[in-house]
Amino acid sequence: MVYQSDSLSGEVTIGGAKNSALKLMAAALLAEGVTILHNVPDITDVTIMSELLMAMGVGVARFGNRVEIDVPAEINPEAPYELVSRMRASISVLGPLIARFGIATVAIPGGDDFGSRPIDMHLTGLERLGAKFSYEHGNIYGKAGKLRGAEVLLEFPSVGATENLMMAASLSVGNTVIDNAAREPEISDLSDLLNLMGAKVSGAGTSRITIEGVEQMVPVEFTVIPDRVEAATFMSAIAVCGGKALLRNARPEHMRMLIRKMEEMGMEITLDPAGIVIERNTTTKGVHVSTLPYPGLATDYKPFLVVALAVSEGLSMVTENIFAGRFRYIDELVRMGADIRAEGRHAVVTGVSCFSGAKVRAHDIRAGAALVVAGMGADGVTEVYEAEHIDRGYENLAGKLTAMGAQVERA
Ligand code: UD1
Repeated sequence: MVYQSDSLSGEVTIGGAKNSALKLMAAALLAEGVTILHNVPDITDVTIMSELLMAMGVGVARFGNRVEIDVPAEINPEAPYELVSRMRASISVLGPLIARFGIATVAIPGGDDFGSRPIDMHLTGLERLGAKFSYEHGNIYGKAGKLRGAEVLLEFPSVGATENLMMAASLSVGNTVIDNAAREPEISDLSDLLNLMGAKVSGAGTSRITIEGVEQMVPVEFTVIPDRVEAATFMSAIAVCGGKALLRNARPEHMRMLIRKMEEMGMEITLDPAGIVIERNTTTKGVHVSTLPYPGLATDYKPFLVVALAVSEGLSMVTENIFAGRFRYIDELVRMGADIRAEGRHAVVTGVSCFSGAKVRAHDIRAGAALVVAGMGADGVTEVYEAEHIDRGYENLAGKLTAMGAQVERA
């Protein structure tokens, strides 16, 4: 249940990045022993990744936001459909399993609410390193002797493929170069963890990553970076409801394009040693938005921008360049009174003064959180169904918004 909120204030602490934590947990498979991760958000996707590791015989224990992953010398290198189908990021165990154990069975993830999401680049990249794959009964069966470094040119800077290749190449023989690599902050976070574990990765954050294979990696202690998409969620909430808040721990250097767009809309953003301060003093205005690989505007930010633009003055053009099918939540926003026309990769948003509270359905994590934000800018009551999607990626979203003055209840 979400009620209209006029103005938000105070501060909110941004938790650890989901999209980093999941990959760091997979990377723990590269070393025998106990890897300790700090600042791991308590969200369903992390629970699923923990279950996946435990199904393989790995010990996983959570103590608050610290997660300990105890990887034995031998494990059962299988990622079953029941878990992979609940979370696509499960595919990130493929690289570490093949590299360390020479064998892996991973269920083929299939499509999801973003539409079809292939993993061909993960597989062809790993094949370049010497892995062999066969496909049967909905599973990928991977095999390899010792992986060998190679040059890999990605057709698209895929985040998941870059991560799988970095992890696999770390335990191979010789040098690997990934060209047209993804440059997201989560890639740099993974590179930092791998290097601490004894790998030799350089160039993360640029489009050419070089990995010198090492024979063995060791377990370490590491802290996950703050979640830039969670930060974007609260920025959007301030844009929709007004007010001012400190987003504690948010890293402005990871969110430059989003900050620029928010400023173009008329938001005031100040960099603070503790994080980012965001304030709305005027009516926001429409801007054009186009998603791109980092450092472009992240596809994960888009639902939050669309919600803010839907109640801004004037017209905005929104283009999705990463996932063609990622516009389903727009039908829900239209039910809430938004004036949005979507076709193919484009949506034209004409600002209205306010949303109208309604019953709506969350189709995925970010769309769900964006509907909550829309509900805070809606007259009347908004009920977001299938809110369990939100729990996949947010630790206590309702509690954090309530602490800022909103009225959001998680049933
Ligand atoms: C993507 C986003 C990431 C976001 C995450 C969760 C990008 C570039 N990546 O990461 O920021 O946090 O979703 O919402 O914005 N593709 C292939 N073959 C492959 C792999 C990918 O064709 O083997 C295509 C995808 O269909 C998509 C694009 O490449 O169109 C980007 O995919 P990728 O970066 O791999 O997706 P995720 O790792 O899930």
